[in-house]
Formats: sequence, C-alpha cells, structure tokens
Amino acid sequence: MNKQKSFNPPKGGMAPGGRPMSKKGTLKRILKMLISFYPVLVPVTACCILFSAAASAMPSIFTQKIIEVIEKCYQSGDWAAAKEEILPKIILLIVMYSFSIIAITTQTQLMAYITQGFLSKMRCSMFNGMQTLPIRYFDTNKHGDIMSHYTNDIDTLRQLISQALPSLLQSSVIVLCVLSIMIYYSIPMTLLLLCGVSLMLVVSKKVGGGSAKYFIRQQKSLGKAEGYIQEIMNGQKVVKVFCHEDECKADFDEINNALYEDSRRAHAYANILGPVIMNIGNILYVLIAMIGGVYLISGLPNFSLSGMAFGISILVPFLNMTKQFTGNVNQFSQQINAIVMGLAGADRILSLMDEESEADEGYVTLVNAEIDSNGNIAETNERTGKWAWKHPHGDGTTTYTPLAGDVRMVEVDFAYEEGKDVLHDISVYAEPGQKIAFVGATGAGKTTITNLINRFYDIADGKIRYDGININKIKKSDLRRSLGIVLQETNLFTGTVMENIRYGRLDASEEECIEAARLAGADDFIRRLPNGYNTELSNNGANLSQGQRQLIAIARAAVADPPVMILDEATSSIDTRTEAIVQKGMDKLMEGRTVFVIAHRLSTVMNSDVIMVLDHGRIIERGNHNDLIAQKGTYYQLYTGAFELE
Ligand SMILES: Nc1ncnc2c1ncn2[C@@H]1O[C@H](COP(=O)(O)OP(=O)(O)O)[C@@H](O)[C@H]1O
Ligand SMILES: [Mg+2]
Repeated sequence: MNKQKSFNPPKGGMAPGGRPMSKKGTLKRILKMLISFYPVLVPVTACCILFSAAASAMPSIFTQKIIEVIEKCYQSGDWAAAKEEILPKIILLIVMYSFSIIAITTQTQLMAYITQGFLSKMRCSMFNGMQTLPIRYFDTNKHGDIMSHYTNDIDTLRQLISQALPSLLQSSVIVLCVLSIMIYYSIPMTLLLLCGVSLMLVVSKKVGGGSAKYFIRQQKSLGKAEGYIQEIMNGQKVVKVFCHEDECKADFDEINNALYEDSRRAHAYANILGPVIMNIGNILYVLIAMIGGVYLISGLPNFSLSGMAFGISILVPFLNMTKQFTGNVNQFSQQINAIVMGLAGADRILSLMDEESEADEGYVTLVNAEIDSNGNIAETNERTGKWAWKHPHGDGTTTYTPLAGDVRMVEVDFAYEEGKDVLHDISVYAEPGQKIAFVGATGAGKTTITNLINRFYDIADGKIRYDGININKIKKSDLRRSLGIVLQETNLFTGTVMENIRYGRLDASEEECIEAARLAGADDFIRRLPNGYNTELSNNGANLSQGQRQLIAIARAAVADPPVMILDEATSSIDTRTEAIVQKGMDKLMEGRTVFVIAHRLSTVMNSDVIMVLDHGRIIERGNHNDLIAQKGTYYQLYTGAFELE
C-alpha cells in the first residue's frame, strides 16, 4: 500500500534531529570538516601559530635574564662575565625570531590556501546538495535568501576561518604563556593584573555585548535586501507596466534602512570596544608600574614559582607583559563578533547542506535492451534505441519489462499542504500510444497530476503504475529520463539554441537536434535568427518571443525521444495560425507515444483518445470528443462557448 505522507515541512536552521543547532555544535562540525579536508595542513598551520605565538611571549624572559646579569655585574664591578652571559642569549633570541618569521610566513600562505580551498569545497557541497533537494524546498524558501548562503554566509565563514579562529588561538596562547611566566616571577603582581583584567572584561561585555546580536541581524537584513533586489530585477517589466517604481523605491528604502540601522548599531558598539579596552589597559599599565615600584621599595617578600625576590629585573619585564596581556585580551574580545557572525553564517550554510535530499528508494532502473524475435529481452551496454525496466526481486531473480509507456493512476489523492486536498480520487488509464488530454479551469489540478507522474511530489494515497511497476519503485532519474516534459513555465539556459535543444539528450547529434526542432515546428524561426542554431540565448531566452521559447522547449523534450510525453500548456503562447502549422509536426511528434496534453484551446485536444474534464481536483467527465459532446455536460458547454475556461 502506498500510504506515504505527502506533507513534509522544511527544517531550515535545524540540526538533522530537528533541534536548533548550538554554536558549539556548529563550530565542532566546521572544524571537523576543515580537518577532514586538510588532515595535514591544518595541524601544520596550527603548529605555526602556536610557535609564533609562544615565541612572541619569550622576550620577557630574556629581558629578565639580561637585567639580572647587568645588575649582578654592576654590584660586583666585573663586566667581563656580562659579555659571556649575554651574547649567547642574544644569538638564541635571533635564531628563535628567525624561525618565528618562517612560521608566520608559512602560516599566512597555508591559511590562504586552506581557507579558499575550504570555501570552494563548501560552495560545491552546497550546490550539489541543493540539486538533490525536492521541489518543495524551492516552493517554500525565497530564492534570494538561498542565494545569500553562497555570498554573505560564505563571506562570514571566510572571516571566521581565516581571521577570527587563528587570531583567537594566537591570543589564547600568548595570554597563557604570559600568564605562566608572570606566575613564575611573582604571584602577588599576577593577581593584581588579573583583578584589572577582570574589570576590563566586565566593561567590554557591557559595552560590546550588544553588538553580536546586531551583527546577526545585519546578516539577516542583508539576505532580505538581496532577495528583494533579485525579485525586482526579475519583475522589472511588471514594475514598469504598473508604474510601481516609486512603491518599489519606498519598499527598498524601508529594507535598506533596517539594514542601515542594524549595521550602524553593530559597528557602533564594536568600534567603541577597542578604544575602551585599550585605555583601560593603559590605566592598568600605570597602576602596575606604581604599585610595582612601591612593592619594590617596600622590600616585602615575593611569592613565586621561581623563588626569586621581587627586583627591577622582574618589574621591567612585568610591565612589558602587562601590555602584551591586555593587548591580547583586547584582540580576543574584538574577535568575538566575527566568531558569532561566522558561526551564524556557518549555521545557515550547514542547514542548507542538512536539508533532506529528495528521497529515492527506487531500485527499478532503465536499461538498453535487445529484444529478439521471440520477445526475449537481454540487457546491453549499446544504445539500441530500445529500453527495458530492470526489476531485481527479493528472491535474487531479475525480470525485464519493455518500456512501453503504459501509465495508470488509481484513486490518487494529493495535497501540497496537509489538510488541503488538491486532487481527489483521480484514476487515469493511459495505454501505450494513447493521447490523454486534461482540460479544466485554472487551478483545477492539471499541472499537479503531471507533477505526480514525474514525482516532483509524492502522492498521499492511491497508486501510480508505469508499465505495471509502482512508480515509487522506479529510480527517479530513470523515471524522468523516460518522460519528455514540457513544463508550463519555459526555462531556457545561457548558451546557443542548439545547446538548449541538446539539453534533452546530451549525446544527440546536430542532425537529431535539427530533426527534433523540425518536428516541434521550431526549425523555421530558428533558421531566421541572426546566427541560426548558433544564436546565443541569455536570461531565459529574453531575446525570443514567448511562443518561440515554447517551441524550443518542445524540441528539447522531443530530442530525448521518450515513450511518454507530457505537454503542459506547451502551445498556449503560440498563435492559432502558427499552431495550425506546428500541429502537423506535433501530431508526428506524438505518434507512437503516450501523451498527456494540457491545453486551453480545445482544438488542440479534440483528437485525443480520452479527454478528462477536471474541476476542483476531481475528474467530472471523461471520454472522447464525440462522447463528451453527446453527454452535453461541461465539455459541451466549453466547446459551444456557453462556458469559458477562465
Ligand atoms: N507548489 C504548490 N504549493 C501549494 N499549492 C499549490 C502548488 N502548486 C499548485 N498549488 C495549488 O494546487 C491547485 C492546482 O494547481 P495546478 O495543478 O497548478 O492547476 P492547473 O494546472 O490546473 O491550473 C491550485 O489551487 C494551486 O493553488
Ligand atoms: Mg497548470
């Protein structure tokens, strides 16, 4: 039984389990991915950062040693020892800094390589993931917003990886090294400094704490502005026709103002933070110098890991370290915003990547077949022009069914949104080679029926069988490959007319594409284009008329030479005279195929084997033209003009 639920709400911003993702979880996942992509380079870079950071904390130790030596020599008057003790230390210092320079250079180069490579891989995963998403995702998410994952969010992720995280690591290492050295020299002075730094952190939280929230809001506002610009660009003609330029401007001003407000607040808070912390740091420096001086003169005992007495050789490097400590705490707090923003961006990117792909549990595949005179089917790798469904069974056997184009829908119900049924009890039997037409008012559910046959959406109840096989068992890509579809909205891609037709079957020769265009009735006008088949199309074929676009779309479907064709209002924008000319080609195109046609013009569907009249998602009449005329129902009224479709 096919009791699949058709309603499956999108889970934007949720972790796979459906919970909102935590910042820690996001960071962990990003780091995991980073390491899995660059298992050697990431640790090497981290080591370079650790080394250069640790090296930058070392001068204090040298200063202490050198002052100590000078102090000793001054007291003893023996300066010969000074040269002997100081020189090796200076050489060591130079060697260490040479390595540090090498480490920093390596780190910056690797960082650029890793960051850009990682972002490129992320974009790729996002794009590939996006292609596997069900149509429903694109129904329910703004396209401009999806787009901003590739632009804004990727940019915040770049800042996170290339600046914020390395900087955070560097500052943390320096702070830890400096702190250890301080404790080694003097615990009371270290405690004094820590009191000052705590005050600094409290103030920075008060001043800068608000900015993170505005940075996240700024990201959202940016996505909204991008979405709006994209929408207006696409709808430029409608905007102009209805003279809505002023309204658009007002709407944009509002969105832009919100963006301005959020950005201003975010940056205003963030900009105060640096100077405030720096100045507290300066005050702290003076305080430490003063209290340190008094401590030195007072001759009070020192408590330290080194057991040294508190002297000038400790006070001088201590002041140095105070500057370094507060400077790095400042650096640390400056990066918090970039981290919050980067994680918010990463979260959005991951939520796109976590979106559930279109489920495809199909295992029946379409294979090239050789059929002998006895009707035996054998699978082959050559393109024979004959196809068969390969159906592996649970008992290990495999059966082959020739691809014929027999489509049966049995008592199908469907809803896009739970509780709002769009189709009720739809049963359609299409035998191979038959032409089935759907007519009915706009919104009656005609397009929806075709959306179910190609499994853009899954049915709630009922069954659809294709050559006797439940379509849920057929691999989606193979199912769609066997269907030639001309969608109601025509979409052409950037490229030549020839390339657009070849989209239907990538290995089609030029002759086959031209033949398809001829069948679709497109050959004539294409030859009259400036460069014929090599005319470049861009922007969804904006340089063609709507009817011409439809003809190319028909040719594109025809070149695939599928056993089943679905034509959804495929000729709606073609004038009656051209249609009459195209009709002969179309009839030839439909020959020997199962065809589902949806058309407003009854002349297009009159010769169908069966015509289904749809009303509010139900089939209210069925039969051929003559049957329906004899019934004197809705179709009769439509035909005689007593009732208009729209
Ligand atoms: N993606 C969608 N999400 C929700 N409802 C939809 C969607 N597409 C169509 N509908 C609704 O389904 C009904 C049938 O639409 P459709 O099959 O496109 O009609 P037709 O092709 O006959 O004009 C309409 O009421 C429409 O509002
Ligand atoms: Mg439609």
